[in-house]
Amino acid sequence: MSQVIKAVRGMQDLLPEKKARFRRIEDQARRVLGQYGYQEVGLPVIENTHLFNRLVGSTTDIVEKEMYSFNDRNDESLTLRPEGTAGLVRFVNEHGLAFNQTQRLWYTGPMFRYERPQKGRYRQFDQIGVECIGMQGPDIDAELLLLCARLWRALGIEDQVRLEINSIGDTASRQAFSAALVEFLNDRSDELDEDSRRRLETNPMRILDSKVPTTQALLSGAPRLKDFVDAQSQQHFEDLCAILDAAKVEYHVNPKIVRGLDYYNRTVFEWVTDSLGAQGTICGGGRYDGLVEQLGGKPTPCVGFALGLDRLALMFEDRPEEAATAQIYAVSVGDQARREMMVVAEMLREETGLKIQVHTGSGKLKAQMKKADASGAEVALILAEDELAAGVVALRELRGTAHQTTVVAGDLPEALRKIFKQDR
Ligand code: HAM
Repeated sequence: MSQVIKAVRGMQDLLPEKKARFRRIEDQARRVLGQYGYQEVGLPVIENTHLFNRLVGSTTDIVEKEMYSFNDRNDESLTLRPEGTAGLVRFVNEHGLAFNQTQRLWYTGPMFRYERPQKGRYRQFDQIGVECIGMQGPDIDAELLLLCARLWRALGIEDQVRLEINSIGDTASRQAFSAALVEFLNDRSDELDEDSRRRLETNPMRILDSKVPTTQALLSGAPRLKDFVDAQSQQHFEDLCAILDAAKVEYHVNPKIVRGLDYYNRTVFEWVTDSLGAQGTICGGGRYDGLVEQLGGKPTPCVGFALGLDRLALMFEDRPEEAATAQIYAVSVGDQARREMMVVAEMLREETGLKIQVHTGSGKLKAQMKKADASGAEVALILAEDELAAGVVALRELRGTAHQTTVVAGDLPEALRKIFKQDR
């Protein structure tokens, strides 16, 4: 017997209800982003591997152990994008969109990371990414956070998420902090967990993110990043907080947020929920003022974030999603009636824009009516021998009254408009 082939581990199938949930979140995001004047762009799923090595950072978890990289037939090393910011920076550079201009852009689509799958963590997951190019003030950082807050309200989850922000300073302040941290931990390296000991060599700031209790205890006496943040970044952060206060956006300053990608400076933030267990970060981002230059462009301030659609969708799992069922279910008996019903349904879609599901194949009228009922449609159109002989279509309301009339096909659009309360 042939073996059943299943989806690759960590890759999710989206059944209709789940897909509808994703779509609804995306629709709200699209609407809110439009309110702030953001434009959608399309980016490739595959990029050159060295783009991520260079921009995301060769000592990050993402680049070290999570990328899906392969050589193509031309022996070029390519990678399924693990995130969207690096590709977006490549895109704005390549199309000359970063030079002396400001851009508010967003994208959506799948990202790929070889992580250990669990609830809320997948190897293919969808993000909506939002990136602002060419704006340096704290006002644009604030705009992004206001936009997120508006989206949470639109989705009705504003009470379940909280905003955590931090400033990690400029490159020089991070280097100074990193050196102080290494000096402090080097003396105590035998008390560190194995992963953190390795990071001491490669990416010391990531040790702050460690979940190991003994490491966290050790860190309580370590130098604090806050004390190394340069004056300008500090001012930027205070101005950002002042805008958030004025706009009444609640936040919590969390000095532990350092983020898992190397490109950040100054503002970093995460939106977190307690309702998803361990994978509670639904959205994360910050400033990345050095990236455009790192790819050969002029120095260009940038800030952005990405939200995880899969995690957001999990927050709505207990709410039924409106299935995309038809408003009208069309049944027919006999070959001639079936042919005619196809034509009538086409005419009605054209004239009224209503959603019509046509019963396919044969079947007794009673069985077809059962399907009409189960479909959730509000109206059944019936074309059986009697109707065919009389040159009419029967129209039965399936919910409430079960009222039935007969109408000539030409009058159906008008009759249906009345039922569905459509204006002409
Ligand atoms: P990130 O924090 O790596 O940032 O990912 C953003 C969001 O994607 C996370 O908060 C989470 O909701 C979702 N996410 C990440 N990994 C997974 C996974 N394995 N399964 C499900 N969801 C996941 C970035 O990707 C940056 N590019 C964000 C950014 C844009 N920064 C500036 N601009």
